[in-house]
This record gives sequence, C-alpha cells and structure tokens, in this order.
Amino acid sequence: MDKKATLSLNDGRSFEFPVLTGSVGPEVIDIRSLYGKSGMFTYDPGFLSTASCNSTITYIDGDAGVLLYRGYPIEQVAEHCDFLETCYLLLNGELPNVGQKDEFVTTVTRHTMVHDQLNRFFTGFRRDAHPMAVLVGVVGALSAFYHDSLDINNPEHRKVSAFRLIAKLPTIVAMAYKYNIGQPFMYPRNDLSYSANFMRMMFGVPAEEYKVNDVLVRALDRILILHADHEQNASTSTVRLSGSSGANPFACIAAGIACLWGPAHGGANEAALEMLEQIGDVSKIGEFIKQVKDKNSGVKLMGFGHRVYKNYDPRAKLMRETCYEVLNELGLQNDRLFKLAMALEKIALEDEYFVSRKLYPNVDFYSGIVQRALGIPVSMFTCIFSLARTVGWIAQWQEMISDPEYKIGRPRQLYRGSVPRNVVPLAKR
Ligand code: SDX
Repeated sequence: MDKKATLSLNDGRSFEFPVLTGSVGPEVIDIRSLYGKSGMFTYDPGFLSTASCNSTITYIDGDAGVLLYRGYPIEQVAEHCDFLETCYLLLNGELPNVGQKDEFVTTVTRHTMVHDQLNRFFTGFRRDAHPMAVLVGVVGALSAFYHDSLDINNPEHRKVSAFRLIAKLPTIVAMAYKYNIGQPFMYPRNDLSYSANFMRMMFGVPAEEYKVNDVLVRALDRILILHADHEQNASTSTVRLSGSSGANPFACIAAGIACLWGPAHGGANEAALEMLEQIGDVSKIGEFIKQVKDKNSGVKLMGFGHRVYKNYDPRAKLMRETCYEVLNELGLQNDRLFKLAMALEKIALEDEYFVSRKLYPNVDFYSGIVQRALGIPVSMFTCIFSLARTVGWIAQWQEMISDPEYKIGRPRQLYRGSVPRNVVPLAKR
C-alpha cells in the first residue's frame, strides 16, 4: 500500500499527501499540492527539512558520517580513483573502463586552453583583487566566448560546456593566481595529468622546467576528489536555481562560485586557517574556546560543524591523512599549525559544548593546512574548492535540466509587511 501523510488542522480540515521513498535515506512528504488544496505554504527558512529535488548523484548520511558518489563510499573513491575518473563517475553515473577514461582524459586535456582574448579580462582587475572576485568575473565572461554551446536544451551543447568548464577552471584559477603575484601566465601542457598540469600552471615559471612532485600532485588530486560534490549544499542549490530559469551553464557556475565564497560555506577553509593563525599557540586554545562558547562574541570554530554531518565529516578524516602525507613528504611533521589543529580538534571533541551540539571537524578544517603546505596561498583556497566543485555543480545542473519534472524555482514567503494602505500625496506627508 502506498504510504500517505495526513495534515489535520484544528479547524476540522485535513489533507492527504503521498510519501515518496528513495533508494536510501529519509522519505519525503510530497507537498506539491498543499497550496492548491489548502491555500497554505510550508515555512522552512534555511531549508532544514526541505528536499528541493530528487537526485541520483551524491548521498550523505549525516548521522553515520557517510558520503557516497553515485553509491561509492568517498573513502574508496579517494583510494582507487583520480579526479578525472571521479568527474566521469559524477557526470555519467558509472566508473569509466580504461578506454572510456582515456577518451575522457583526452577530451578534457584538449579543452584546457582559454580563448587568448580572455587574458585581457584580468588586466581590468587590481592586482590585489581577491582571486574569488576575479574567478566569478572571468567564469561568467566565458558565456561571451562560447556561443556555440549555450543552448541548454541541446544535449551536445551541455556536453561541450561541461568539458570546457572542467578543463578550463584550472587554467583560469592559475591565471588568477599568476595575475595576483605579477608572474606571467603559464599555458597548459597536454603531456601532464590534470592535477600536475594545474600545479605547473600555478607554480611553474617560463624561466625553468617545473619539476612535478608525484606525492604533492596526488595530494592535490585527492583534495579535488573530496570537494567534487556534496548533495544540495548552498552553492549547488544556487546553480540549480540559476539553471532553472534557463540561464547558460557558464553564468550558473559563476553564480555557484559567488555563493561558495561565503565564510559559512566554501570560504571556511580560508577562515579556519586564519583562526589557527589568530590562536597562534596551543596555550591559547582554552581562551579561544571560551570566546566561542560566549554567544555574544560571534566567534565560531571555523572548520567545525555542518548542516548535515552530526558526526565526523568523512572527508575531514581523509583530509587529515592527506595533510599528514604532505607534511611528511615536505619534512614539515612538526608544522606548528597542524599540531595546533590536532590539539584544537582533541579539546573540542572532548568538550560538552561541542559534543552536545554534534560539532565535528568538516572538510574545511584540515584542507587549509594541507593547501598551505602545497604552497597554495590562503586567498586561493576557495578558488581550489570552486575548481573541484565545478564538476558537481555541472552534474547537478545537467540532472535538473534533463528532469522532465523540473520547473523554474520560485519559493513563496510568509508576508509580515504592511497591509494595503493609500499613498498620501507628498504635499500632505
Ligand atoms: C561546507 O552544505 C554543505 O554540504 C557544505 C559543504 C560542501 O561540501 O558543500 O560541506 C562545505 O560549507 C562545510 C561547512 C564549512 N563552514 C564552516 O566550517 C563555518 C563554521 N560552521 C558553522 O558556521 C555552521 O556549523 C554551519 C554553517 C556549517 C552549519 O550551520 P547550521 O546547520 O545552521 O548549524 P547551527 O547554526 O544550527 O548550529 C547548531 C548550534 C548552534 O548553537 P545553539 O544556537 O544551538 O546554541 O551549534 C552552534 C550554533 O551556534 N555552532 C557552532 C558552530 N557551528 C554551529 N558553534 C561554534 N562553532 C561552530 N563552527
């Protein structure tokens, strides 16, 4: 028998709604007919109890600390796959075989260059502009160059745009960094892997050959895998909402980048590292924790807490491992901030304030330390997050566009403003 939910009002009215079941995870009450039947809206600012769509891409169990990409646990994807395999999986729903992977990698590789006129966009920015401001602007500008792939209803256009965005984000992010530090842009190299290519575009200079360090490249590749997708988070919901109006994919991804920039979301790794720098020493942790507990301070433990994870973020565990590997490779085992972060984590996980609120480290807590060790400046952290999340945004955007049920997203409100009143002419006001 189909499951139903009944809403009974104390004015005697009652309404029935279907209950929909997923392959795993919470069921949903399909309330699409609520307004038509009752003249009432649901009210859920922040969407704590609202499913905005149905999806087959990523599943999170916040209580169990589980994250699946197309059904595969993140721990296994991080161990057995590289980032481009992960991109293929998120976009196509299955892991590629050898031939499929080769074709995918070749196609991405051949789209890594940007239109040479795009270089001129950078000169309009101040050198000290935040790289995320540059990224939002330049990615949005891509729609001015690719008129041959803007028809979102054309599957071929959607595919070309997906390849262009996945391939060009590393080039554009590296260009934003080079522009910021006043070094020349490095062109992509087709004989390097995706992550090695990115590291060379970031840290190579025309004056000498760039030496690829496989351990560091693998670490960066894993950082990209861990950030690739995460269900209906704020920036993904932004991309879906933008796409629901029919906006082109480049504009939608630029909107996602803008949303990810916020310190409560993708900007948290930058904020977490700044927090560690501000604490400075293990002896100052107690004082800092006291500030966090004081609601009036407005101070939060950045890199801790999550809307969905009420257990340890599985990505944080993998990020801590990667952190350890990189610091070992670089002989930085005694890195001050890493030791401070581990001490802070230990204290927080034993403190009733955090335990009672189920606040655990999230993906951003260690990612700042490992990126700093890789030589990536703090201001670039969220650009790297954007680079990684582009494939997730595109996969979610494509899923929405090809869903026959999709409509333009248009939430309603609980209006608490003035009731109708008449304008008094200026002379009489
Ligand atoms: C990402 O959604 C995603 O999937 C995002 C992401 C992805 O991959 O896309 O996982 C990436 O954005 C990770 C989150 C990065 N943000 C941070 O690390 C910033 C610090 N974290 C907080 O701002 C907060 O935890 C949020 C925004 C992440 C979650 O906020 P919620 O779900 O609205 O949690 P809440 O505010 O309801 O917190 C419950 C309680 C509150 O205290 P009380 O009012 O109950 O007394 O916990 C407190 C909060 O004040 N709290 C914190 C805290 N986070 C929540 N207290 C101190 N430090 C924190 N970090």
